[in-house]
Amino acid sequence: MDAKLSSSPAPLDGGPAARLLTWYDRHARDLPWRSKPGEVPDPYCVWLSEVMLQQTTVAAVTPRFTAWVARWPDVASLAAAPDEDIMAAWAGLGYYARARNLVKAARAVVAEHGGRFPGTEAELRELPGLGAYTAAAVAAIAFGERAVVVDSNVERVVARVFAIQTPLPAARPAIRDATDRITPDTRAGDFAQAMMDLGSSICTVKKPQCLLCPIAVDCRARAEGIAETLPAKAPKKKRPYRHGTIFWIERDGHVWLVRRPDKGLLGGMRALPTGPWTDERPGLADAPAEGPWVMLNDTVVHGFTHFELELALARTGGEPADPDAGEWWPIKDLGTAGLPTLFARAADRLKGA
Ligand code: ADE
Repeated sequence: MDAKLSSSPAPLDGGPAARLLTWYDRHARDLPWRSKPGEVPDPYCVWLSEVMLQQTTVAAVTPRFTAWVARWPDVASLAAAPDEDIMAAWAGLGYYARARNLVKAARAVVAEHGGRFPGTEAELRELPGLGAYTAAAVAAIAFGERAVVVDSNVERVVARVFAIQTPLPAARPAIRDATDRITPDTRAGDFAQAMMDLGSSICTVKKPQCLLCPIAVDCRARAEGIAETLPAKAPKKKRPYRHGTIFWIERDGHVWLVRRPDKGLLGGMRALPTGPWTDERPGLADAPAEGPWVMLNDTVVHGFTHFELELALARTGGEPADPDAGEWWPIKDLGTAGLPTLFARAADRLKGA
């Protein structure tokens, strides 16, 4: 047999982008923020979904996105909503800086752009909280700009297609350049979402299903039998441990809640009071009531990006020292308080204790 025919022939068509788009036209996931073919995308929905989808899965975001747009259907209604309603509506999605920036960006779109999202990647990048990824994703998906969109799914697909073996995060510039080389001039938004769908369904972290992959012919890692090993990752540093105490003050079926300062972790969120977060266990330091306090024989552990926090749990029936520092909330309605997951978990342990 002719040696040339024994290896896969180079396809004679428009390259990986064309193959991927053909696949996407048949297999795109039906997600509530996506426009149907022929529909004009709504930049508000695209932006909101992209912010929610950073660090949070499609499965977790889908019902939250739907409820959000039912309550605030456009950027003007969101911009007019009270901060605390928005923060409470974000509860459980984590990474609360996203919600604080969401409010700021919505108000900037109304105040500075007449309520319409600016249509270019460069202008979008100027809005609060729109980093390189979000600005590129909104520009491509909502406005059809040829922007280079790289999230962790795209990173994995591209590292494999180009067999980029440098570990992350050092590989990021090479991956971005490679993504740029295969991004098409038209349908860049569909291309980006097709890469994401491919990464989440076929080009998965473990056991990629190369036999089903529409761009297997383009994939160097597959040809070299190393797809599953890419992208390589630099070993993770261990996160340091910090300690704190959560204080539960209960009276007549109500619990005392505070709002965390706007700056800092979980900023602006409704919460149970805590003392300082320190290297040593702080015990009852900065307790918001005189007590007597009972310490539970239990803790709640929560992973933040840069450290892990172990919180002791203390309860009392006393009066808060500063009656202006918080509010009494009915314990049976705690689900409506919009507590971040960490406090909701603590409350579950404390309320029956
Ligand atoms: N992850 C981030 N953005 C996404 C999108 N538009 N579709 C699917 N997954 C995503």
